[in-house]
Amino acid sequence: ARTVTRGEDGTATVAGIPVSRLQEEFGTPAYILDEDDFRARCRAWTDAFSGADVFYAGKAFLSRAVVRWLREEGLNLDVCSGTELAVALDAGMPAERIAFHGNNKTSAEIERAVGAGVGRIVLDSYQEIVRVAHAAREAGKRQRVQIRVTVGVEAHTHEFIATAHEDQKFGLALQDGQAAEAVRRVLGLDSLELTGLHSHIGSQIFDMAGFEVSARRVVGLLRDIRDEHGVELPEIDLGGGLGIAYTSDDDPREPHEIAKALADIVTRECAAAGLTVPRLSVEPGRAIVGPTAFTLYTVGTVKELPGLRTYVSVDGGMSDNIRTALYDAEYSVALVSRVSDAEPMLTRVVGKHCESGDIVVRDAYLPSDLAPGDLIAVPATGAYCRSMANNYNHALRPPVVAVKDGAARVIVRRETEEDLLRLDVG
Ligand code: LLP
Repeated sequence: ARTVTRGEDGTATVAGIPVSRLQEEFGTPAYILDEDDFRARCRAWTDAFSGADVFYAGKAFLSRAVVRWLREEGLNLDVCSGTELAVALDAGMPAERIAFHGNNKTSAEIERAVGAGVGRIVLDSYQEIVRVAHAAREAGKRQRVQIRVTVGVEAHTHEFIATAHEDQKFGLALQDGQAAEAVRRVLGLDSLELTGLHSHIGSQIFDMAGFEVSARRVVGLLRDIRDEHGVELPEIDLGGGLGIAYTSDDDPREPHEIAKALADIVTRECAAAGLTVPRLSVEPGRAIVGPTAFTLYTVGTVKELPGLRTYVSVDGGMSDNIRTALYDAEYSVALVSRVSDAEPMLTRVVGKHCESGDIVVRDAYLPSDLAPGDLIAVPATGAYCRSMANNYNHALRPPVVAVKDGAARVIVRRETEEDLLRLDVG
């Protein structure tokens, strides 16, 4: 695991804490999150961009502690539901540092966001323009908004997490004039202040080309808006999507590389169009929190299928990490409770759920003396694992344990049977 180091005797520790102690204290499965790593990644982004222009995407993983870290590190926050908004406000994120996303925000969510005074609502449909304008008028406010533009880029990632090709649900399309029409409508409404354009092309992307095309097309629309309406919108947001290393095959770009590439292209395109360079913001989620956590599991059974491979069953699975089943995501795994010199064997790490697609790590080598009771760690599970965790088979969602300077504390506690039974009111 990335944040796990081996002492001289081979024992695995994270932030100075032996992994076996974490198991004793918090049980498994558990997500172990390195707070210093999280903060360092926040700073890498705020160093690369201006701090004020980094919006952490809360969908990747959100909790009160995370909101406090973001606030302290000077980041903003992107939320995409009323409940994410509630967590953000509850943990003290100033409303003006919050951007509200989503392709079907309810009127209640919109009223709440406008009422709280969020700094930005990203508009995703014609109906929503009317709803946000109405809510702002009712509240006696002028709401700052951006328009989510679908730029028509095929991001090279899994189909389910690509968001800017034409045939999908997000945004207003550039090509068929819907984005330009949305601009016309918004500019005609007094209760809305159109501050800029937004484009998010997808997630887990390594190739900068998609971001560059996106930036070029967004600036092209800024130019068209200036030509048609005589206004130069002051902001563009190019979304999140930067890929991280799940296995050693992945070679992620650093925040400063992204910042430079985007700034260069925006500056060049603006110069060509005679536009003032707008303020550029981004929304990284995975790239900040993904690498900061690993999932700690206990091995339950080891089943050898002669001539095929060995199935290693752990005490979690698709309820705490659905990404392998959903996106064919790749992960690595390591034995962390002891040192083994045994020959490596080809394994598949699977969960305890009632379907054969319940795979955590599809192909992984683990020592051939692996046995029930061993602890194994799956790195890079900080993003979209706890936030997409579910209760399949009435699994109890694991805790998130933050580690820092030799101390560990629960920031999201483990779900209990009582939690689940309380919901069952039949
Ligand atoms: N901004 C917007 C408007 C988004 O829709 C997203 C992600 C982000 C920012 C953050 O993207 P990131 O930097 O984390 O790639 N559940 C999937 C990922 C879904 C991403 C949805 N939107 C997964 O586990 O891979």
